[in-house]
Amino acid sequence: MNESEMENITVEVQTGDPFSVSAAGLIVGVWDDGRMALDWKKRLDAVLGGEFSRILEHGEFRGESREIFFLPTFGKIPARYVILAGLGHRDKTSSESIRKISGTVANAARRRNLTTLHSTLASNAHDDVDLASEAVVEGTLLGLYTFSQYKSRDERPSRKGKAPKPEYALSRLTLSASKDTEKKVRRGIEWARAVVRGTCLARDLGNHPANVATPTMIADTAAREAVRRGIRFTSFDRDKLEEMGLGALVGVAKGSVEPPRLIQLEYCPEKAQNAKPILLVGKTLTFDSGGISLKPAEKMEAMKGDMSGGAAVLGTLMAVADLGIPLWIVGLMPATENMPSGSANKPGDVLKAYNGKTIEVINTDAEGRLILADALSYGAKNFDPALIIDLATLTGAVTVALGAHAIGVLGNDPKRISEVLAIGEKVGEKGWHLPLFEEYFEQIKSPVADMQNVGGRGAGTITAAAFLSHFVDDKPWVHLDIAGTAWVESDEPYKPKGNVGIGIRLLTHFLSDLSGEKDLRKASGKGSKKK
Ligand code: BES
Ligand code: MN
Ligand code: ZN
Repeated sequence: MNESEMENITVEVQTGDPFSVSAAGLIVGVWDDGRMALDWKKRLDAVLGGEFSRILEHGEFRGESREIFFLPTFGKIPARYVILAGLGHRDKTSSESIRKISGTVANAARRRNLTTLHSTLASNAHDDVDLASEAVVEGTLLGLYTFSQYKSRDERPSRKGKAPKPEYALSRLTLSASKDTEKKVRRGIEWARAVVRGTCLARDLGNHPANVATPTMIADTAAREAVRRGIRFTSFDRDKLEEMGLGALVGVAKGSVEPPRLIQLEYCPEKAQNAKPILLVGKTLTFDSGGISLKPAEKMEAMKGDMSGGAAVLGTLMAVADLGIPLWIVGLMPATENMPSGSANKPGDVLKAYNGKTIEVINTDAEGRLILADALSYGAKNFDPALIIDLATLTGAVTVALGAHAIGVLGNDPKRISEVLAIGEKVGEKGWHLPLFEEYFEQIKSPVADMQNVGGRGAGTITAAAFLSHFVDDKPWVHLDIAGTAWVESDEPYKPKGNVGIGIRLLTHFLSDLSGEKDLRKASGKGSKKK
């Protein structure tokens, strides 16, 4: 299922008795001490004639984390199977463990072609029912995401001699709730749908080949999604960018036949709480060959995903608008390819960024920071933001430091950084803070220009961020290096191989929390909005 097919899935709250629900699969959680929430163990044994207890006694199922067991009911209850879902250790249950087990269950249900599911995990496995409900729906839908539109029908998996199987589609997911939890479950579902919509669109953009997902196509997609939501869309083309002085972005685009764009999205709801906007900037490099400093051939195809930061900005604005979060937010997506050609940037070339600072290009493969330099300084100057957050698949070095399990988090505002880390932990998009000590800035000094675009062997993620810090105009700023987390090489419970759509859940929750903050409130008199 891709982004648009997800919309066809019905997701609803069910307040009745789960044991009388008529879904094909009834999902119940079991901890690794064999316990279940409420009196469900007793009830389950009563309806299934003690079979559940026997399964546990014989060690057929232990409730270990992500273990699953399909228990056929043979008509004893309307559901065809009770799906036992291992929750692992009782104290370690988190929104992320619920997201993962829900993704695992969804994939197993797909293999059995079960198209209706009922989950009881949210109301019982976790105290925070909103968040747990969101996690159930996200885990299920994101786990079922596929990207197969470039496969001809005949090439899709089929059994020998038989017609190709129609692609599996979940038609209905219901979540248990009591009268007390109903509202929270409903809220969790609403949040999940918004996050999933943004995430699947971002995944689609990242999975499309670079000959399709060009800067022009991404601008068209952003325009379409913006118009639907009353978000103001502007896009600047090559000539305009040159005239405006975004010399670093234009410089990177020089080697490419595909025209670059700077995409600008302004979300400003009537009830916006903030006097100054929040600025989101995302690296939208639609294909990174390295340019004249060409990358090796191996895995170069993955560089079609070098636009994941921009996709996260678009996906977040979609989610935030769908949820009606009362914040003024501006999104910027500098979009271009990085290609080698007779007209490309050369090592040693000097570029001038929007804020007038000059950059010696030592390595044309350090192009992300160049396009961000322009987008950050353009945004900082023209919108006077209260906070800047940028996301970028910026450095291979962040994978060396943190692997695939944490976003590299840097910046100049310790309070905002720790808030981002805390939200990441809460919603399963973890980050880790790296320092920006002044000593690192020595590494990017240039003999000929204001700075150079690479800082040598050590601390590649830090020197990249140090470079960016020259372009935020001392505004509060958080930088997220998502190079290690934007892409997975093999299937994970709710992340099928390919683009992850990282950052959207993190930012949507962060911005929602931010919208409740007093410090950002409109000061009386001052703070009239631009344009
Ligand atoms: N887009 C890459 C970073 C990247 C690497 C993203 C692997 C995803 C997976 C970036 O433009 C890049 O090439 N960075 C260079 C910087 C170096 C030349 C200083 C790198 O990390 O090697
Ligand atoms: Mn590069
Ligand atoms: Zn890149």
